[in-house]
Amino acid sequence: MIRFLDYYQNQVELSFDDHPFSTKPLHVWVIAVYEGKWLLTHHKQRGYEFPGGKVEPGETAEEAARREVMEETGGSIASLAYIGQYRVEGRGDTIIKNIYFAEIESLVPHLAVDETDGAFLLDDLPQRLDANRKYSFMMKDRVLPETLRVLAERRLV
Ligand code: GTP
Repeated sequence: MIRFLDYYQNQVELSFDDHPFSTKPLHVWVIAVYEGKWLLTHHKQRGYEFPGGKVEPGETAEEAARREVMEETGGSIASLAYIGQYRVEGRGDTIIKNIYFAEIESLVPHLAVDETDGAFLLDDLPQRLDANRKYSFMMKDRVLPETLRVLAERRLV
């Protein structure tokens, strides 16, 4: 278990064990790759981030991951792997989010169904994301670097 504060100074607990906080988390985040590039979306308020969002009633977390990637980027997932889970103690509520790794098989033109501007492909993630105003707060705490470390250890990237 790794503990740290996020960009907004909320307490975060992160683990790469099998669903340590909840077997039915209500949020998902998907580290996605398409043709060797990172697949992000551009959120109109938050900036660039990996796709994700809330699990809808009646949906599994995996289904939510596939839906959110399609809605936010137009990407269709060929393979989806559970990587870890984190819990954020927010001021109002506590959220629990599954982290997935997804390989994207095709990108269709983005349908403007939500608050994002669609797919954004990157060869390399910038070094100092915490100081980059174009990137979302979600990309600025230790969840992303720790997840990238685990993906490299597991030879997924
Ligand atoms: P909507 O209901 O979608 O309008 O938004 P919301 O901002 O209430 O969203 P949500 O329930 O997804 O998140 C509630 C709070 O949890 C956010 O304001 C953030 O402070 C925090 N949060 C959500 N996702 C993350 C995340 O991936 N990382 C971190 N560190 N905090 C998060």
